[in-house]
Amino acid sequence: MTHVNATRLDNPEGHALVATATRLLTERPDRAAVALRRHTDDPELAQAAMNQATLRAAAYPKFGPDTARMFFTRDGLEQASRAVVAERRADRLAAAGADRVADLCCGIGADAFAMARHGLTVVAVDSDAETADIARANAAALGLSGQVEVRHERAQDTDLTGVDAAFADPARRHAGRRIFDPRMYSPPLPELWRLTEDVDHRVCKVGPGIDHSIIPPDAEAEWVSVDGDVVEAALWRGGVATAPRRASVITGRRVTELTGPGDRQATVGEIGGFLYEPDGAVIRAHLVAELAELVAGRLAHPKIAYLYTDAIHPTPLATGYRIDEVLPFHVKKLRQLVAARRIGRLTVKKRGADVEPDRLRRELKPAGDNEATLIVTRIGERHTALLCERLPS
Ligand SMILES: C[S@@+](CC[C@H](N)C(=O)[O-])C[C@H]1O[C@@H](n2cnc3c(N)ncnc32)[C@H](O)[C@@H]1O
Repeated sequence: MTHVNATRLDNPEGHALVATATRLLTERPDRAAVALRRHTDDPELAQAAMNQATLRAAAYPKFGPDTARMFFTRDGLEQASRAVVAERRADRLAAAGADRVADLCCGIGADAFAMARHGLTVVAVDSDAETADIARANAAALGLSGQVEVRHERAQDTDLTGVDAAFADPARRHAGRRIFDPRMYSPPLPELWRLTEDVDHRVCKVGPGIDHSIIPPDAEAEWVSVDGDVVEAALWRGGVATAPRRASVITGRRVTELTGPGDRQATVGEIGGFLYEPDGAVIRAHLVAELAELVAGRLAHPKIAYLYTDAIHPTPLATGYRIDEVLPFHVKKLRQLVAARRIGRLTVKKRGADVEPDRLRRELKPAGDNEATLIVTRIGERHTALLCERLPS
């Protein structure tokens, strides 16, 4: 069966077919494909509609209610920015005074649409013909065609005259494999910087594992987490860059930010009654020292990012624990403690210690009505186990 471009469904008959496929998938998932064939005599169109219905179901967590009107490719959906992150980026660009922006690798359009909704005019380009068709169809479906002009074009060929902001989210996968070296992105990161040299505000999305040593000295590097997972990093240059390093922690719809130079070392000292585990975005941005100041905390080992405090300092930037017991790491003694305390719901965490949390948890044979978190780490050079109670966030 040949591949059908999803935009062949962008007409009243196609919309109705996708709606029927969505309903059938909900009502009788095992028979949906066969049942859909009764609604069209074009088997390729039926397959395309079923494919879209499946992708829309998968897209909901990223796109929310827009999903029902949009078209997707599997790759396009996987690579698309989450709406909450795209909106924040658009908000920052608009606040910096950007007006006309080029989205140089627009994919199915998630970032371009967020920017349009923040009042920017967008030229959105993608080198893949089907992806560009889908972005165009999505702009129309969302009522944004007036603000977003989609072109099937390479970023390298895009005329940036009159543009005051450039955003690029280059492809970081090839043949299903993740690419870590920014020089191998499509387009390569150094090329994107060169292409956008004369633009006032520039933003390039990069992998969260980017090596700090290749971050341009004038750039702001930002790491973003959503509900505890680091989902992306971006480099900002020009007027829109305001701090060398930024961690943006999104919980629900709330954004908490921490900024700093990214080269400071937190103080090292004794442990206290409470432990704070920094959010991954704070750690990746090298802002643990700034967080330590915020919670009046210190490290117990210079290279292990757990902060210890003497009092509770609630913050969305870290998960807090009350330390109930401090003991040397010894599996047999820990098993006795878990049994004595009747701990059935046990979370095991580690940092700076050579243990496998899942395996250790099994070895400790948790049983009983109580709940606890066991954190295995090093205090100075001693392997230490901390039995903790997680604090409400
Ligand atoms: C990570 S995706 C972009 C996702 C998009 N920001 C979104 O949220 O929907 C990268 C896109 O870059 C496109 N691409 C790769 N090389 C390109 C080039 N040289 N010029 C323009 N687009 C390119 C790919 O086709 C892919 O759609």
